[in-house]
Amino acid sequence: MVIKNICCIGAGYVGGPTCSVIAWKCPDIRVHVVDKSELRIKQWNSGKLPIYEPGLDDVVKECRGRNLFFSNDIDVAVKEADLIFISVNTPTKTYGIGKGRAADLKHIELCARKIAEVSEGHKIVVEKSTVPVRAAESIAHILSANTKPGVSFQVLSNPEFLAEGTAIENLVYPDRVLIGGEESAEGEAAIAQLTWIYNHWVPTEKIITLSTWSSELSKLASNAFLAQRVSSINAISALCEATGADVSQVAAAVGRDSRIGSKFLQASVGFGGSCFQKDLLNLVYIAECLNLPEVAMYWQQVTDMNEYQRTRFAKRIVGCLFNTVTDKTLAVFGFAFKKNTGDTRESPAIFVCSHLLEEGARLNIYDPKVEAKQIEDDLTNARATSEPERVQKLINIYDDPYEAVRNAHAIVVLTEWDEFKTYDYKKMLTVMKKPAFIFDGRKILDHEALISLGFHTETIGKRFSRDTLLRSSGGHCPSFSWMP
Ligand code: NAI
Repeated sequence: MVIKNICCIGAGYVGGPTCSVIAWKCPDIRVHVVDKSELRIKQWNSGKLPIYEPGLDDVVKECRGRNLFFSNDIDVAVKEADLIFISVNTPTKTYGIGKGRAADLKHIELCARKIAEVSEGHKIVVEKSTVPVRAAESIAHILSANTKPGVSFQVLSNPEFLAEGTAIENLVYPDRVLIGGEESAEGEAAIAQLTWIYNHWVPTEKIITLSTWSSELSKLASNAFLAQRVSSINAISALCEATGADVSQVAAAVGRDSRIGSKFLQASVGFGGSCFQKDLLNLVYIAECLNLPEVAMYWQQVTDMNEYQRTRFAKRIVGCLFNTVTDKTLAVFGFAFKKNTGDTRESPAIFVCSHLLEEGARLNIYDPKVEAKQIEDDLTNARATSEPERVQKLINIYDDPYEAVRNAHAIVVLTEWDEFKTYDYKKMLTVMKKPAFIFDGRKILDHEALISLGFHTETIGKRFSRDTLLRSSGGHCPSFSWMP
């Protein structure tokens, strides 16, 4: 069978960019991306795509209508496809057994049932969503239990490793592509067909074939290792603040060891995004279910450290602002969980802002890509507060950072957007309340320059001397509960 038609169920942060790149690199294949959400599909077919990713607009513009199609017609797309990607969301369960930890596979199961219902002939079903180990087995079970005469399926695991903000680059030049499949002639044939698709642009040596279970677990393990590095350097950042060491210097020294490497060693206010937390919790849950409590506790600590880091930073802001932020205005720079994306899922900004709002602060929030409504929803939903009306009154969303800082007591940097580095902070200082504070939760600003301008400057994993801080805050040195 030659793959001529691909269907992808789920037009989200993974399905949309992944299939756009497949359509771009494989002009001989028709790619149909479907979703149950009418709004999402409408946006994919419009001039303003539902997600922001550098380079994505150009790829979609070139392929849409040629061999790339977005629609809500799931049945037709599944029926016509030779190969179907399942790229639906697998959030943490919010109910029942495994609540707060296990991955919710209801969307995956619905896809499997839909595929079984409408399929004709032979189909390769590819699990692209991140799932617990042995989920492919469940998909295969649902498919085989509902298979009609003349219909057959092969299920593959092909987890996605793109990072938001660099999705197109990661898809075009992946470090590796994993394809997990059944050890049988049919399984190997299906693996060969998916390999053929990737071979349009990915060299064979980067394509790793392995067992389905190893493939599924490799994705969870990769995210756990990445999150663990962030939590490790953040743990060291707390030690730096307590001892007078500088976490950037420590990270640079540690990263020079070729066995450790320098990537992902940037201390910050914590990791966010839809995956790290969810996949870690999923791993913890799997370990618990398999009666491996020590393994579960080990990975649980990675997410606990992240929580500690966010809370620690929020408390430090309150501590430095003379132990109260009630009725003070704080300008928040950045709300997305990282730069170059408009995604706010599990963003540290939500946690830090909620803490400050709980303390009665007024927040002037600016983010270059996140929509105002998204910020309001994130800060007023039931997970964030029990007092949505009060919170709504305390937040103002700005589209000009220079307006956001007017009469503010402090600037709080929560996303590492490049543009924050180029602002005229001298100009900002003139319209702020004095002493003016900057809390750089991403370690991206020129701290010495800010101190020279007169800002009281605080950052993660580094303590400026009392003398320096006294100079910048006009002789007032707040009490630092975090200082030894
Ligand atoms: P998303 O929430 O952005 O998109 C999922 C889409 O699936 C939504 O548009 C939803 O309407 C649609 N959907 C859900 N059930 C459906 C059904 N039964 N029929 C049709 N459409 C349905 O999720 P995202 O971020 O794209 O993630 C998808 C999967 O990929 C998750 O398992 C995630 O863990 C994994 N992943 C995500 C990465 C990321 O950076 N966002 C990176 C690597 C993997």
